[in-house]
Amino acid sequence: MTTPVKGARKIMLARIDAPVPYSKGAWLRSVGLNPVDLAGKVFTSASYKGGIGKTLIAYELAFLIDGILVDLDWDKGGATVKWGYDPDLRVNAPLVDLVEKGRIPKPLSGQLWRPDLVPCTPDLKYVVPPAKKFTDILVKLAQELGEKYQKAVVFDTHPGGGPEAFAPMATSNVVLGVVELGQQEMSAGEQMVDELKAYPLLLVPNRVTGTAQEDRYLDWLDRVTEEAGVPVAPPITDMRHWVKVRKSRMAITANRPTARFERLRQDLQAVAGAAVSYVRAAA
Ligand SMILES: Nc1ncnc2c1ncn2[C@@H]1O[C@H](COP(=O)(O)OP(=O)(O)O)[C@@H](O)[C@H]1O
Ligand SMILES: [Mg+2]
Repeated sequence: MTTPVKGARKIMLARIDAPVPYSKGAWLRSVGLNPVDLAGKVFTSASYKGGIGKTLIAYELAFLIDGILVDLDWDKGGATVKWGYDPDLRVNAPLVDLVEKGRIPKPLSGQLWRPDLVPCTPDLKYVVPPAKKFTDILVKLAQELGEKYQKAVVFDTHPGGGPEAFAPMATSNVVLGVVELGQQEMSAGEQMVDELKAYPLLLVPNRVTGTAQEDRYLDWLDRVTEEAGVPVAPPITDMRHWVKVRKSRMAITANRPTARFERLRQDLQAVAGAAVSYVRAAA
């Protein structure tokens, strides 16, 4: 005879195994794919400017496709801290061990509502090797994580064009180049497109307001991307301060549709759709 405790445990397990709407990977399944379909693929979020939405996009994309988020930005205030990992309270440094000892890190499980994560610690900046060597290390990392966990890898990067940014880009099946529609932002975006057009670049306009002031920057974006033959993903709406004051570790796209975030949720899903299509079309 089974005890009530055992019965209860069975019910709990059954519920955890059932697909939970809005949970990690649910969007990918809703478009008819599974994480394993993207195993070994590499997505990178990059830009020549900081504070432009790289981390937001990498975090949400990793969540939507149930990929492994690998944080390569050692500066504080990135994906690692947002996820809830405090490097100051930890003694290990998985990415430093990867570079120095070739040890493949075991991702932290984000369970249902956060992406799985390979966290970054500030000391990575002291050990980053030259681009060629770093590329070899990241190729091996993506390959081994893909084989072992049957998932894609999403790199979040440090802004700019050093080895820490070029190496993940050289490893990638798609580079999401984030741009904003502003004067300085488009100057940086134009330089990025020019320098990175030989990579599998997909431009992602972020913080788009839809106001008339943006028209000239949209023209600028069209000209730059047409000349370079670089595709552009659907734009992401500017949520102004709503995202900045958000403290939750949960992905935005993990929320049930709410009036406030619904637009952003849909935009992020559309960008994930563009990135996944890009990778699958190239395969
Ligand atoms: N579309 C958006 N609407 C509102 N806030 C945004 C949007 N995209 C990014 N942000 C906010 O802007 C800040 C910088 O974004 P982040 O992703 O950290 O940029 P980066 O990684 O490029 O430095 C964060 O507080 C982020 O939540
Ligand atoms: Mg960032």
